[in-house]
Amino acid sequence: MSEKPVSDRTLADLGATTPDAVLAQFEFLRQKFNQELSDLERITTDHRAVWQALNLAWTGRKSGEIGKIGENWLKTAPPELKRVVGQELNKLKAHVDGAIEEKRKEIEAAAERAAQARDQIDLSLPGVDRPIGTRHLIRQTYEELQRIFLSIGFSVVEGPEIETPYYNFEALNIPEHHPARDNMDTFYIEGSRSGHLLRTHTSPMQIRTMEKQKPPVRIIVPGKVYRRDNPDATHGYMFHQIEGLAVDTDITFCDFKGTVEYFVREFLGPQAKTRLRPSYFPFTEPSAEVDATCHVCGGSGCRVCKFSGWIELFGAGMVNPAVYGFVGYDAENLSGFAFGMGVDRLAMMKYGISELPLLYQNDVRFLSQFP
Ligand code: PHE
Repeated sequence: MSEKPVSDRTLADLGATTPDAVLAQFEFLRQKFNQELSDLERITTDHRAVWQALNLAWTGRKSGEIGKIGENWLKTAPPELKRVVGQELNKLKAHVDGAIEEKRKEIEAAAERAAQARDQIDLSLPGVDRPIGTRHLIRQTYEELQRIFLSIGFSVVEGPEIETPYYNFEALNIPEHHPARDNMDTFYIEGSRSGHLLRTHTSPMQIRTMEKQKPPVRIIVPGKVYRRDNPDATHGYMFHQIEGLAVDTDITFCDFKGTVEYFVREFLGPQAKTRLRPSYFPFTEPSAEVDATCHVCGGSGCRVCKFSGWIELFGAGMVNPAVYGFVGYDAENLSGFAFGMGVDRLAMMKYGISELPLLYQNDVRFLSQFP
């Protein structure tokens, strides 16, 4: 037959009718508590949870042992035993409270020590080496180009890579069936009623900017452009350009030439000389190819410049007045110049890279040569 716990019975029920018998009962409880407390040590899992259970079992308001002793032993004790029961109960309660509080501190301290041990940093261990990447050579070249043009008053604008034929061609004075479209045959967006295409150059932003902004205009336009070229060492289906446009009431060919020369000296070094060769673009008139003295031989002739002493850099020219007609600018009173540079080409030339694909393969051994 299982007996009820002593704390659920009265002292009379337990046969404790003398002070000595009462002391023995309390001694029994104290032993029981001490036993449970030391059992806690042997439990290796969660000391905190076990401590909480123990705390509840002994000091819990409703069903804690101390409370029950007060109810079942003290309240029911005959007058002659009340005093000793009260004293013993207080002693037991003090013992339990003290021991439980002490145990709590111990557990906290141990947890704290464990956390500290976990967090401790061993400064003698080698660190984790996280290599920092570099900016891609194309990005570096863009930044260099922007630095140069920002320093003489240009600002940067960007535009869409998907364009309409109007902005990519017509408004740049390249009518349908014009042969200038041939080398710009490009990718068309399937199902687009207005014939959307991937822009073949950054020049559409000349138009978009002038449509929005009154003169003076002085902008550069970095961005990706697309052409249906057969991929080889110097061609891909996509490349990077930077467009330039300056329009004002008093811009002359001298301003054009001076700007181009300033750019070439900044980009290639003070020794670089510039030459303009006649060329043709429908949206500039006159048009020119800008050449610089070969950066490898300095102009005396070598394999890089095919023994000419000159390297072709980019196309440019004075804005064709026909273009002003498309944007509502007053062609009578305005003039300006424009240029369009292939950034990949400039980077390859400046850094002596012979294969365009190297710029897109993202081989770290290649990229890290340009920190
Ligand atoms: N848009 C021309 C090209 O891509 C370059 C260019 C721009 C030429 C501006 C003249 C003026 O080939």
